[in-house]
Amino acid sequence: MDKQNKRIVLVTGATGGLGTAMCKELYKDGFHVVGNYHTKEKADKWQKEMKEEGFDIQLFFGDVSNFESAGEMIKKIEAEVGPVDTLVNNAGITRDGRLLNMSKDDWNAVINTNLNSVFNCTKHVLPGMVERKFGRIINISSVNGQRGQFGQTNYSAAKAGMHGFTKSLAMEVAKLGITVNTISPGYIGTDMVMAVPEKILTQIIAQVPLGRLGGTHEVAHLVSFLASEETSFITGANYSINGGQHVY
Ligand code: CAA
Repeated sequence: MDKQNKRIVLVTGATGGLGTAMCKELYKDGFHVVGNYHTKEKADKWQKEMKEEGFDIQLFFGDVSNFESAGEMIKKIEAEVGPVDTLVNNAGITRDGRLLNMSKDDWNAVINTNLNSVFNCTKHVLPGMVERKFGRIINISSVNGQRGQFGQTNYSAAKAGMHGFTKSLAMEVAKLGITVNTISPGYIGTDMVMAVPEKILTQIIAQVPLGRLGGTHEVAHLVSFLASEETSFITGANYSINGGQHVY
């Protein structure tokens, strides 16, 4: 907790569409929010806009796909702000293409950024959480990790891997006041989704019973809920938020 007894939440990939909405929602809900960024220019612009909108959120550099870089970032946050109570593993990228066309670099980039990042960040915050007997780890997966998606063997494999990580770690730390959960958003109106060719995206939306893309605030609301004190009996769970696109 910080000096004002606020829980400290770290959101990775904070400057992206979902990350930004999460930061805002958590801030409004009274958390001390810190964000992680990767690209300096994007971070400067983001911070300026957030300040103008009244959000005081500090950003820290870290390449979450790299174990050492993630560790240095978390060390810096803990020294300058305080211990991380809640980690939102949100950073993610796409490198879509059929496996026949997929390069080794596109495979590795997605596995490292979307899945190995979860290990890299969690590994560095977990010992402190164990010591303090409190923690919330929230992994942002995807509907495509549950059902697969044409052109996303790398992304779906990484996102599916998160489920195994969540369930196993939840068991390991259940008695230590730490919960570990996954959120699986469907197609949300972010730059990442808007990069899908229009014709394909129209076909995808047609398969969504709600008939629309999700809003970033809708996912952010769920993140803030899982970060709250009251969710202490929810662990190892997956929350689908996909407009009914995948039900089971
Ligand atoms: N099912 C069957 N066939 C399909 C198909 C589908 N869903 N989609 C495309 N095809 C076919 C095409 O018709 C084409 O066939 P022909 O060669 O006979 O004409 C072929 O597959 C595609 O050929 P390409 O050379 O274009 O294939 P590619 O290797 O370059 O990959 C693609 C195309 C980039 C994967 C493109 O299909 C695509 O962008 N798909 C959308 C992927 C997607 O949904 N990404 C989600 C990004 S957002 C996100 O990930 C957030 C989240 O969590 C939801």
